[in-house]
Amino acid sequence: MGDLPLFALSEEHQAIREAVRELCAAKVEPFAAAVDEEARYPEEAAAALQAADFHAPHVPEEYGGAGADALATVLVIEEIARVCVASSLIPAVNKLGSMPLLLSGSAELKQTYLSKLAAGEGGFSYCLSEPDAGSDAAAMKTRAVRDGDDWVLSGVKRWITNAGVSEYYTVMAVTDPTVSTGGKAKGISAFVVEKSDEGVSFGAPEKKLGIKGSPTREVYLDNVRIPGDRIIGEEGTGFETAMRTLDHTRVTIAAQAVGVAQGALDYALGYSQERQQFGKRIADFQGLQFLLADMGMKIEAARQLTYAAAGRSERGDKDLTFFGAAAKCFASDVAMEVTTNAVQVLGGYGYTRDYPVERMMRDAKITQIYEGTNQVQRIVIARQLLAGIQS
Ligand code: CAA
Repeated sequence: MGDLPLFALSEEHQAIREAVRELCAAKVEPFAAAVDEEARYPEEAAAALQAADFHAPHVPEEYGGAGADALATVLVIEEIARVCVASSLIPAVNKLGSMPLLLSGSAELKQTYLSKLAAGEGGFSYCLSEPDAGSDAAAMKTRAVRDGDDWVLSGVKRWITNAGVSEYYTVMAVTDPTVSTGGKAKGISAFVVEKSDEGVSFGAPEKKLGIKGSPTREVYLDNVRIPGDRIIGEEGTGFETAMRTLDHTRVTIAAQAVGVAQGALDYALGYSQERQQFGKRIADFQGLQFLLADMGMKIEAARQLTYAAAGRSERGDKDLTFFGAAAKCFASDVAMEVTTNAVQVLGGYGYTRDYPVERMMRDAKITQIYEGTNQVQRIVIARQLLAGIQS
């Protein structure tokens, strides 16, 4: 037997984590409460992340990107989410929107759009869901019809993160409606649509419980004509590309969940050592210590699973589908529990907007819902187990 693996971050990964942590303390955290309160896009964070090349760190160096591997990208997202989940959606959604290109795009398409993303010319959003096609993503109705060399897209996409802010959109649409039920996913293709394409418009921002700094809007496609070469991969492969994308990016949602949970524990730890009741620090009460212990223990378990999933994402291992879903599902359940308990540690104060833990609790909730509800994750996990695919 050789040396045992360390299960620890390399020096390089530690350095990335330190650099993001420092940047977040100076340029992201100071605006987190205002961004939430005013439900406004985190312009300050966006500018700082872009200046430091953390806005889309996953873009490979050959396209002018930072070339961060999947674990480094997870660390960037985790650290930002620790102080502001809405801001962490900048690198997370840029990865989600551009992953279909990385997985299936032509060389030209990758060169054009990934270099624009890396250079900060515009972000990328991902358009899969529709008003009547959420968990059942393959039930989408948006159509893409061939017209000469072009494609013409029509339909409504819903729950699109950073819609309106992003310049570029990966849109999944039905190209072959004749494919029979059961094989319907085969009739779906993926495309790149630009915000400036004629016929693209956006709905009003949704009024949400959390991640208020990140706009969620409908995207309307009204006979949007795009050149034929904006199709991502072969016709009919769009659903598979969309699912493969989520295998990778569910790991980044897990990172958000670990980050927000850690942020809440950090605050609860500090508070419990300041707050005095019955003549001593509340941290000296065993009842509270048990709460803190469970929080720390579960966060660490979620973090290890997330980093293990990031390794699978980087290598493209066959058990990534299992690990991506498991990390997202476990970490987001932990985030909801930990942030709720952080509010409990602060008691009445925790329930007010004078302290950040109520925002963290509201922000944590979405991690159990987007990129597939945790019920969908459990379906995915069970299917992988039953197919005999696990580590
Ligand atoms: N990798 C490769 N191929 C895959 C795959 C994967 N992970 N998952 C499915 N496929 C393929 C299947 O092999 C199948 O192909 P064949 O017909 O050749 O076998 C095809 O895709 C259809 O797969 P299923 O039969 O499994 O499809 P389904 O209709 O039963 O759906 C599902 C399965 C897991 C429920 C899926 O619909 C799903 O993940 N739903 C949730 C959608 C989701 O996560 N939405 C999030 C939107 S993005 C977002 O939230 C971000 C934002 O901006 C807000």
